[in-house]
Amino acid sequence: MSTVTQPAVSLDVRQIGGRIGAEISGVDLRADLDDATLTVINAALLQHKALVFRGQHLDDEQQLRFAARFGPLTTAHPTVPSVDGQPNILPVHGDEGVRANQWHTDVTFVQSPPKVSTLRAVVVPSYGGNTLIANTAAAYRDLPEPLRALADSLYAVHTNDYDYAQPQFDSEAAAEYHKVFISRRYRTEHPVVRVHPESGERGLFIGGFAQRVVGLSGTESRDILRLLQAYVTRPENVLRVQWTPGDLVLFDNRITQHYAPDDYGDQARSLFRVTVAGDVPTGVDGSRSRIVEGDDAGHYTPGQ
Ligand code: SIN
Repeated sequence: MSTVTQPAVSLDVRQIGGRIGAEISGVDLRADLDDATLTVINAALLQHKALVFRGQHLDDEQQLRFAARFGPLTTAHPTVPSVDGQPNILPVHGDEGVRANQWHTDVTFVQSPPKVSTLRAVVVPSYGGNTLIANTAAAYRDLPEPLRALADSLYAVHTNDYDYAQPQFDSEAAAEYHKVFISRRYRTEHPVVRVHPESGERGLFIGGFAQRVVGLSGTESRDILRLLQAYVTRPENVLRVQWTPGDLVLFDNRITQHYAPDDYGDQARSLFRVTVAGDVPTGVDGSRSRIVEGDDAGHYTPGQ
């Protein structure tokens, strides 16, 4: 790993979507970034929600060091094993038959879901294998006023105990993955509308792990969540990242959802994810998320 000091701020922020996404150029993420550069990147993240850095070709240590500039790292995942010898890096390998083709925000089943996620592409299929990222604040603003008022008042229970990663192959490996995924069970009540702790923006905080609305039946919950989720996945609110090997994407996990389409057959696809520990979400009335089942996932968010 080489360490180069990056001279102060010459980077370019180019908006690439109407409501979400910017591409950042003129910065080498292998370098030891100075605070002024970090301030520009963080401001771009708050504004654009998802940032694409092309052709960075980071190694494990460089991805870890870049992510750690945004705060203490989580371990790889509350239940899924990390890359060997790298406790903070989650392998995202589509060729093992498990694909994240569900809209979700990372790890919302715990009380303190990650603040930001970084994804680094190493192997990219010859077609497909993109990542879609949605702006949940734009979705909230799109709601008609009566629905916004309803959403403001709701809490949803998020859990890892459901069929999150749809197995591509009906294989033993996929069944085993599911068993590992739910090896510790979590259930957390989060506000359906989360106030962003840095920008104060409101966003819909739901996604695939949100399985039940507090006080409603299963059927009512599904109907309400489907109605709200339809605003998140409006094409206007979605960025499609077409990966090339070496790209790094940074997204704000507090105010986005993402989805990895299962559209690349049995080709290899290899990404590595490093996430930064987040705070306990707060709703519009100032109340905070509550654990319903499981612990505070202290092994995942050290120091939270
Ligand atoms: C993830 O959910 O973090 C993985 C996204 C992807 O595979 O593109």
